Amino acid sequence: MKEAVLTILENLPIAPRTYRMKLSGDTSEIRCSGEFVQFAIDGKFLRRPISVHDVDWETLTVIYKVVGEGTAAMAAMLPGDKLKALTGLGNSFDIDACRSKALLLGGGVGAAPLYQLAKELCSQNKAVTVVLGFNNASEIMLVDEFEGLGATVYVATMDGSAGTKGFVTDVLRLKNIPYDYFYACGPMPMLKAVCAAVHCPGEVSLEERMGCGAGFCYCCSIQTVNGPRRVCKDGPVFKKEDLIW
Ligand SMILES: Cc1cc2nc3c(=O)[nH]c(=O)nc-3n(C[C@H](O)[C@H](O)[C@H](O)COP(=O)(O)OP(=O)(O)OC[C@H]3O[C@@H](n4cnc5c(N)ncnc54)[C@H](O)[C@@H]3O)c2cc1C
Ligand code: FES
Repeated sequence: MKEAVLTILENLPIAPRTYRMKLSGDTSEIRCSGEFVQFAIDGKFLRRPISVHDVDWETLTVIYKVVGEGTAAMAAMLPGDKLKALTGLGNSFDIDACRSKALLLGGGVGAAPLYQLAKELCSQNKAVTVVLGFNNASEIMLVDEFEGLGATVYVATMDGSAGTKGFVTDVLRLKNIPYDYFYACGPMPMLKAVCAAVHCPGEVSLEERMGCGAGFCYCCSIQTVNGPRRVCKDGPVFKKEDLIW
């Protein structure tokens, strides 16, 4: 991991209480999709973990939802402001585990880390289908971005205001989507439902409250079939079969 001082290039709302922040600086420690960074927010003791949405040699893009004081402070930041970040945290999605047809499932802001993953899968000429779940049509985001990569995208909304009414698992039930491996990120109940509904191997990216974010304090531990594991260091991506719900 590496501490970098990043400069905000852009920080714009893309959905209610949800922002896309693009930053420039040293992104050399960020290797692949699934990783996260920890932002140091002025006045906050603990850094805030946010997933890598998109990365290249010079820029990092994240998508975050305002849920408390830390993310509210991020939303108030302007282009040119500096943000300290620990980069290169966490493990990554295993893109080689998918033979040829990947199914990506995102719930709300959980769609964010799937974009860099989709980029990597498409660069290997794998077919990518993305199923995104939101509460309602106003929350829908990233559809154009995924389609721009060549992915097929389906949307589910809880209130039926766009796409399939219901959960991402309802899309799976109603559409005949071909896939041999899945990747999911979103709220815990969604991940649990996805793991029960999808009858092929796959992996999920988990969120836990974090302290150090780097493997030292053990406050993000979860039980797995292999014993306790730290979401920040051993995860955040875990194989479906390793999880205990
Ligand atoms: C590996 C990882 C990747 C993440 N990626 C993203 C992302 O790409 N985009 C995004 O919007 N959020 C992401 N989160 C969640 C994000 O870290 C929290 O929303 C953020 O830290 C909240 O900070 P706050 O000061 O605004 O809120 P706080 O005042 O700290 O908390 C406000 C509310 O948010 C909940 N919360 C706080 N931290 C977490 C957490 N780690 N997981 C779940 N709920 C939390 C609290 O329980 C509370 O209800 C990620 C979390 C982890 C662990
Ligand atoms: S947050 Fe400290 S070990 Fe994971």
